[in-house]
Amino acid sequence: MNFKTVAVLTSGGDAPGMNAAVRSIVRLAITKGIRVLGVRRGYGGLINKDIFEMSIRTVSDIIERGGTILYTTRSPEFYTDEGTQKAVKNCKELNIDTVIVLGGEGSIRGSTKLIKNGINCICIPCTIDNDVACSENSIGFDTAVNTAMSMIDRIRDTAQAHDRCSVVEVMGKKCGNIALQTGIAVGATAILVPECPFDFQRDVVEKINFTQKMGKKHFIIIVAEGLKIISKITKDISEKTGIETRATILGYVQRGGSPTAADRALAGKMGCYAVELIENGIYNKVISVKKNQIVDVDIDEALSYKAHFDFDTYDKALEISI
Ligand code: F6P
Repeated sequence: MNFKTVAVLTSGGDAPGMNAAVRSIVRLAITKGIRVLGVRRGYGGLINKDIFEMSIRTVSDIIERGGTILYTTRSPEFYTDEGTQKAVKNCKELNIDTVIVLGGEGSIRGSTKLIKNGINCICIPCTIDNDVACSENSIGFDTAVNTAMSMIDRIRDTAQAHDRCSVVEVMGKKCGNIALQTGIAVGATAILVPECPFDFQRDVVEKINFTQKMGKKHFIIIVAEGLKIISKITKDISEKTGIETRATILGYVQRGGSPTAADRALAGKMGCYAVELIENGIYNKVISVKKNQIVDVDIDEALSYKAHFDFDTYDKALEISI
C-alpha cells in the first residue's frame, strides 16, 4: 500500500467554514488510511515546522465554529526564495507528499511555489470575498453575506425610525460580490462596487430623490470597501439630498461567527473531494463550484481566470430597489 502523508493548512483571511472543511479532510483521509498533519498559521507554519499529527478526534466539535483551529497568517517570508526552500525542506523531512491549502486567491498563488519544488498541492477556496476566479462560490461567503444582511436589517430599523439614509460599507477587498449579494438581500437603493463604474449624481442622488418622490422614506446605500469612499459619499449624500445620512463600516463581524448550513455543506463536500483526488493520485488542482457542481481545475488554469461578477443580478437588484 502506498502510504500517503497529507498536510493541511489555512492561509490568508479566515473564513467561516474553514473548520468544517478541515474536519471533513481529516475524517475522510484517516478513514482511507492517509496520515494527516495539521500546519499552524498557514505557510508560516511550514517554514517554522509548527506541524502536528491530527486524529479523528482533533476535529471534534469544530463544525460549528468560525475562525480556524489551525490559525492563519499571510506569510511574506514564504514568498522569499529562502522561505520557500525552508518550507519545502520541512515537507520533505516529514514525507509530506501533498499540502491541502484552504484560502483565497493569494493562498492559491502561494501553492505554486511548493508545486515548482516538487510538493503536490490541492487548494480549496475559502474566503468571505468570493473572489476566487475559477469558482462560483467559496467557503465563508454565504456566512458573511448573511451576517451583513442581519446587521443591515438592524441598521434599517433605526434608519426607518429617523427617516434617514444609511450608508454601509461591506468587506470584499477589491471585489464587489459581498456588496452585490447583500445589497439585493436588503433591497439597497444603490450598490456601489469596483466592478461597475457609477455616476454619483445619477445613480445615487437622483435615485434617492426619485424613490423619495415615490414615497420611500429611508434609504440603504451599500458600498464595497475596495472603493474607499464611505466618508465622502456619506457627506455628499447628506449635502445633495438634504437627508440626514449616517455611515456604518461593518468590518470584521463579517468574518467571524458560526458558518451557515450552506457553508458547512460546501466545506464538507469540498473537503471530501480533495481527499478523493489525492486517493486517486490527482494533484495540483483547485476544487471549484461550476454550475452548482463541485469540480476540479488545474491550478495554473485557475489562476488565469478572470474574476466573476454577476452583472445581470446587479442590474436587477437596482431595478427593483425603487
Ligand atoms: O479577504 C478577506 C478580507 O476580510 C477582505 O474582505 C478584507 O479586505 C481583508 O480580508 C482584510 O484583511 P486583514 O485581516 O489583513 O485586515
